[in-house]
Amino acid sequence: MSLKKRYNRINLITKQWKLKKTHSLITRYKIDPKFFNEFKFYIKLYISKALNIDFNINDKIFIKNIDKARNNRLNITPNGAIVPKREFHLEYNLVLRSWCELVRQISKKKPKLLKLFRITPNIRIKFGKELNDNKNRELSTSHPHSDAWVEGPWGMNCYIPFFGDTKNNNLQFYEPINEFNESYMAISPSYKKMQWVMDYYKKIKKIIPLVGHVNLSDYAAIHNTFRNPNCGTRVSIDTTLFVGNYKPHKDRLKEYTDKIPNIGLNHFVDSGQYEKDKPADKVSTYSHYTSKVLKLIKF
Ligand SMILES: [Fe+2]
Repeated sequence: MSLKKRYNRINLITKQWKLKKTHSLITRYKIDPKFFNEFKFYIKLYISKALNIDFNINDKIFIKNIDKARNNRLNITPNGAIVPKREFHLEYNLVLRSWCELVRQISKKKPKLLKLFRITPNIRIKFGKELNDNKNRELSTSHPHSDAWVEGPWGMNCYIPFFGDTKNNNLQFYEPINEFNESYMAISPSYKKMQWVMDYYKKIKKIIPLVGHVNLSDYAAIHNTFRNPNCGTRVSIDTTLFVGNYKPHKDRLKEYTDKIPNIGLNHFVDSGQYEKDKPADKVSTYSHYTSKVLKLIKF
């Protein structure tokens, strides 16, 4: 029974990193508002290049610009993740510089607890209306899912809503009803095929991830994108990290480093492909969309 271990791990990071626990499987870190605004600025700059739209400091206007560009799919996956390309990987590295700094801030009271750091967070646009090609995908994040199904059982999710309609377009979490069985966290190439697990889960009410906070949750907290009727678009970051002596699925290991690199200072991430290139494949079903081409370069 690993559920107890999972609860203990949430308690441990909450205590050591001085977080705020909101559920036995979920805890959160409040980002310094000044830092958050700067981070948001870089994300907007990155999105403006990826979608070829005007930058605007005003979130509402900027979301409108994003919505107008929803058919520009050159650099967007069906799940709404932005794929970095060389034409704008300088802007991508600004985002990653903030990302590295943020994780350093979160873990600074006990850095050793963070065992694996992922250099490729997903910067995601969740349009108010789902993109058509995502609707029936086996790995659509609109299906309730555990990232354990593609990453192995022991990681943790890290989710930060940045701007847009985060009230009506956000994440819904679920928890085990009674007994927890390890088979709920089995590996699978399809979220759809794992929907049987939902018979043993129920919705967690009243926990809506807040803007400006890093929401950390155990893989046992199943989740999906929820959209209320007529909701607007939302921009967020989601990724995974590993606390404790656990490793991800072998096809994903190379997406992680054991120390947080100083990207933008003495490291640079080469996105490895141009916009005009045929989009790179993934190493395997379990891998990230950047897995074949992206490189971390140390100066
Ligand atoms: Fe997820």
